[in-house]
Amino acid sequence: MNTNSRSITTSPAWQALAAHHQSIKTLHLRQLFADDPRRGERFTNEAAGIYLDYSKNRITDETLKLLLQLADEAGLKARIAAMFRGDKINITENRSVLHVALRAPRDGSIIVDGVNVVPEVHKVLDAMSGFAERVRSGEWKGHTGKRIRNIVNIGIGGSDLGPVMAYEALKSYSDRSLRFRFVSNVDSTDFTEAVHDLDPAETLFIVASKTFTTLETMTNAQSARAWLVAGLRGDETSVARHFVALSTNAKEVAKFGIDTTNMFGFWDWVGGRYSMDSAIGLSTMLAIGPEHFRGMLAGFHEMDEHFRSAPFAENLPVLMGLLAIWNTNFLDAHTTAVLPYEQYLKRFPAYLQQLIMESNGKQVTLDGGKVACDTSAIYWGEPGTNGQHSFYQLIHQGTRLIPCDFIVFGRALNPIGAHHDMLVANVFAQGEALAFGKTAEEVRKEGSPDSLVPHRSFEGNRPSNTLMLEKLTPAALGKLVALYEHSVFTQGAIWNINPFDQWGVELGKVLAQRIIPELDVKHAEPLKHDSSTNTLIRRYRHFKSAI
Ligand code: F6P
Repeated sequence: MNTNSRSITTSPAWQALAAHHQSIKTLHLRQLFADDPRRGERFTNEAAGIYLDYSKNRITDETLKLLLQLADEAGLKARIAAMFRGDKINITENRSVLHVALRAPRDGSIIVDGVNVVPEVHKVLDAMSGFAERVRSGEWKGHTGKRIRNIVNIGIGGSDLGPVMAYEALKSYSDRSLRFRFVSNVDSTDFTEAVHDLDPAETLFIVASKTFTTLETMTNAQSARAWLVAGLRGDETSVARHFVALSTNAKEVAKFGIDTTNMFGFWDWVGGRYSMDSAIGLSTMLAIGPEHFRGMLAGFHEMDEHFRSAPFAENLPVLMGLLAIWNTNFLDAHTTAVLPYEQYLKRFPAYLQQLIMESNGKQVTLDGGKVACDTSAIYWGEPGTNGQHSFYQLIHQGTRLIPCDFIVFGRALNPIGAHHDMLVANVFAQGEALAFGKTAEEVRKEGSPDSLVPHRSFEGNRPSNTLMLEKLTPAALGKLVALYEHSVFTQGAIWNINPFDQWGVELGKVLAQRIIPELDVKHAEPLKHDSSTNTLIRRYRHFKSAI
């Protein structure tokens, strides 16, 4: 390992932040708000229809100044330009990183290896639109002549989490006469439950896999083909009308038996976790229609342009990324909760887990050295208000500091009576309670017996961001996702790591391939794993042979 690598922790801004942290670490948000009655207006910013209130973070003007200096010292500006230019910034795979090209307008130009990729992007989008229209209108028929009523997306990781999150998020814009299911797990229960009530003659499978070699997806796709063919009287030719592929690997698609005219392609410069707006979004387009899908892309693009061009002090993804650095590296927060007060965003935290942790869960810098500080926080969350009655207790009164991102919309998609006011009142109340808490004196004044005072006091000083948008539309979803994508980029640039590879998932995959044949009860001994793994394998074989 290279021990001479440049470390951001030795930069003047980092050092200054560390010293600054020492001088303000006892400051309470109560004090900061009392000292500056306009704090809740000043530490905010609005762009692309997203209002970010970051005033409830444990920062001062000086903190912000130093964080912005840190971004400069890390060369963030040049790195953003390099990504948008199509430079091969994914250095361990020698690839460009161009999810931003997926939402570039038709007349845009981004050159990769001498080729403008934007027209190719739009060619695929047009093909997807044509196909989506045919399925949605009923023109595309199944093998027996019945129209398609069910769409099953088979994929995992980025080929599942984005599609399922977007489907759930945009359900109110979807064609309710179509039924959508998502199969990801190699656990056969996932597939079985997804198809148990479906008619094969009315079912379209979308096999979504960038590589088209992923064990889970290929296994589920084979089971889907067997289920379909069995349900259609053993007729293998039925596959042509019931399977489409989303992939970069035409050779493997053809080998599986899907006609490549029914394949929608993308490129190696689209990372799996950055692919929901590529062909991988076909299920989203089938659900909401091409026009709404393009609306979503326009939202992504608006945030891309903001990220690319806004001064850092007003740049939402940069601000969010820098605040994440502050919370992780200086306040020593290990996790961050994402708490959407919008039921349609129920899968958003799960989506962000892959986006953020597969990207920045790294410990090696771009030049091969070991990072000298913590990298990505652990992300998790659930929609509000549900989480309030579950894990918020720990956020309010536990021993750990857990910064929160609250997400809320000004208008409900399904307004009934006072529901939305109640929802919004709750999200505002949570941010307020976390920041300001309740002192022992306040508790006492309420008449609490002395013995209960410590239990009923809230320390407060717990940081949060609040993101507020007008309404959950396809464009709003695009903006939100792009906001987090670029915040991830910002953090990766500060830590000087590569957010675009994922070697860490390889070892487990390789070991699983080795173990699969060893689970056969007839597999010859000796097993050559550690004693724990060997014993577990033998125990499993015992269960198998008892069947
Ligand atoms: O195992 C991790 C991973 O490579 C993710 O990065 C990716 O999104 C997922 O697997 C699925 O890969 P594919 O789309 O190639 O099937």
